[in-house]
Amino acid sequence: MDSVDPGFARKLTDWHRLHGRHDLPWQRTRDPYRIWVSEIMLQQTQVGAVVGYFQRFLDRFPDLKSLALASEDDVLRLWSGLGYYARARNLHKAARTIVVDHNGRFPRSAEAIAGLPGIGRSTAAAIAAFAFGESAAILDGNVKRVLARRFGVGGFPGVAAVEKKLWEIATCLLPPTDGEVRIESYTQALMDLGATVCTRGQPSCGKCPLSAECVARGTGRISEFPAPRPKKATPVREATWLVLRHRKRVLLERRPSSGLWGGLWVFPEYAGKSLEYHCRAQYSCELARHHVLPGFSHAFTHFRLEIRPVLCEVEIRGTAAESPGRVWLETGEAIDSAVPVPVRKLLLQI
Ligand code: ADE
Repeated sequence: MDSVDPGFARKLTDWHRLHGRHDLPWQRTRDPYRIWVSEIMLQQTQVGAVVGYFQRFLDRFPDLKSLALASEDDVLRLWSGLGYYARARNLHKAARTIVVDHNGRFPRSAEAIAGLPGIGRSTAAAIAAFAFGESAAILDGNVKRVLARRFGVGGFPGVAAVEKKLWEIATCLLPPTDGEVRIESYTQALMDLGATVCTRGQPSCGKCPLSAECVARGTGRISEFPAPRPKKATPVREATWLVLRHRKRVLLERRPSSGLWGGLWVFPEYAGKSLEYHCRAQYSCELARHHVLPGFSHAFTHFRLEIRPVLCEVEIRGTAAESPGRVWLETGEAIDSAVPVPVRKLLLQI
């Protein structure tokens, strides 16, 4: 993967010189503390939302020492409204770690920076690039999107194998340390392209310096990269349904009017221990025989229902078994009633 795109860094930085952001309050500095605070604030948060918070934070905690000496409560107060509060707690913790374990001196390499609380590989690389000019690859969410599109990398970037591939590409793309492109400009250019041009929803490909070689654009598949998070496995619920049968009739109950199958007629559900007791106490029935019917499942949008039907031959004691929400119906009548699909399916089987 030596020459994934030799002109990549140059095209990006040429674009950035003209169209990038250069005057944000954490730019034009080499102070690792300011750069660190800004990079943490910028995680999952847009530049526009960060500027005010950054300035208030730096007014109150102008350096590492003041942050380390602060109470966590004070730090959280200044973070209030920015969200993802673990970021603030880790920032505070890391400030204390630097004071205690690093003699108050901000670690100088991406590797050492990544050892601090709340700093991952990409953030450590960005800080090391901006503060110390270290050549280290970044791969935040925006950059993953840029690279997945430009190089047509399929698969959800949260999957380890896909992420590994993207890290390899990001590393190969780094500008040569003895070349014209500086790592600081390159890193900022990559971030800004992802944040302002190669956006998630409607990328501005007409403004993109990489569009001529972009695989996603060239193949008309911009919306397919990066692949979305795979849907979570559907949750499964289980239900035991009692098919209480007395001669040719079965008992159905009406569901409450709101919620799942609201107002429809269904078989009673059962979750207790003694079937005999349940039939007697709930339905005034004496259980004569029962046997388990083959189970089946029913898919809802958000879960799957595994249905375990139990056919119960019963004798009815008195008339108490029927009430406004309960009816005994012949199977044919029941099939024609307001029953949901799995109830009908079951009625057809018995
Ligand atoms: N997101 C994370 N770090 C950033 C930075 N330095 N500039 C713009 N967006 C960012």
